[in-house]
Amino acid sequence: MNPVKFNAEPNSFAGRVILITGATSGIGRSLALGLAQLGATVLLLGRDVAALEALFDKIKDSHHPEPGIVPFDLSQDDPERLSTLKQVITERYGVLDGLIHNAAILGDRVPFEHYNMTTWAQVFRTNFESPVALTQALLPLLQQSSGGALIFTSSSVGYSPKAYWGAYAASKYALEGVASLLSEELENTSDIRVSVVNPGATRTKMRQAAYPSEDPASVKPPEDLLALFTYLLSATSGAPRGHRFQSNGNHQPLVRRTND
Ligand SMILES: NC(=O)c1ccc[n+]([C@@H]2O[C@H](COP(=O)([O-])OP(=O)(O)OC[C@H]3O[C@@H](n4cnc5c(N)ncnc54)[C@H](OP(=O)(O)O)[C@@H]3O)[C@@H](O)[C@H]2O)c1
Repeated sequence: MNPVKFNAEPNSFAGRVILITGATSGIGRSLALGLAQLGATVLLLGRDVAALEALFDKIKDSHHPEPGIVPFDLSQDDPERLSTLKQVITERYGVLDGLIHNAAILGDRVPFEHYNMTTWAQVFRTNFESPVALTQALLPLLQQSSGGALIFTSSSVGYSPKAYWGAYAASKYALEGVASLLSEELENTSDIRVSVVNPGATRTKMRQAAYPSEDPASVKPPEDLLALFTYLLSATSGAPRGHRFQSNGNHQPLVRRTND
């Protein structure tokens, strides 16, 4: 089965609770709308409350399951807020069937020697440390699901870091490292499926910021990624565990074993 051809049945995500970080724009927003349309209860995490509320209204007005709003700034180190979030999801839903780490910032693309270290720390907090802390906090709720899915959205530079991509590339590389070790740790102790996705060139504000002279119409819209993500989130699609997926559906195991 080609993951990008996966065709989720209408309402096949009914009763599934899925948290999406960075749900206010781009890929995250598109996934939230697509998953809600398939019946999922989506928990929308973002830092722009007005945008979260507008998305809440759009989903509700379309008569999809009522979403949850999670105002959360991932650039802040806020263990207390994290513990409140865990408590609220536990009390309200009792389970998490999917956690999509999607939010990220680009930071600067300059020679390493000129990289501003305050920006470096902010990119690492947003793209790496907060997702790791969120994963640790919410793992017990994913364990409550039959077939929970944990998805880390990465980038081509998260696998093969490139000159001048600085903290963005390094943070994605680190995130893929955590995804790899977690997939190995959970393999025998849990049925949580850990995946990494490189969405590839996608028409969003991040892409526009990274490639300002590119014609946005020349790259795919975020809606094209729904099939791959639903394949990875579905408990019955037969998606392999612990793989890194490209937007064309190609994939390979995350854990690269050596004898060292
Ligand atoms: N688009 C591409 O071509 C491409 C290619 C490879 C990988 N990716 C990856 O795909 C994912 C989605 O990117 P995108 O292109 O959809 O970008 P985007 O349109 O810029 O969306 C990023 C989302 O993350 C949120 N976010 C940023 N900082 C945050 C913070 N401190 N706290 C909470 N939320 C925050 C943004 O919220 P605000 O609206 O408040 O900023 C926005 O909702 C990212 O992980 C990116 O690295 C994208």
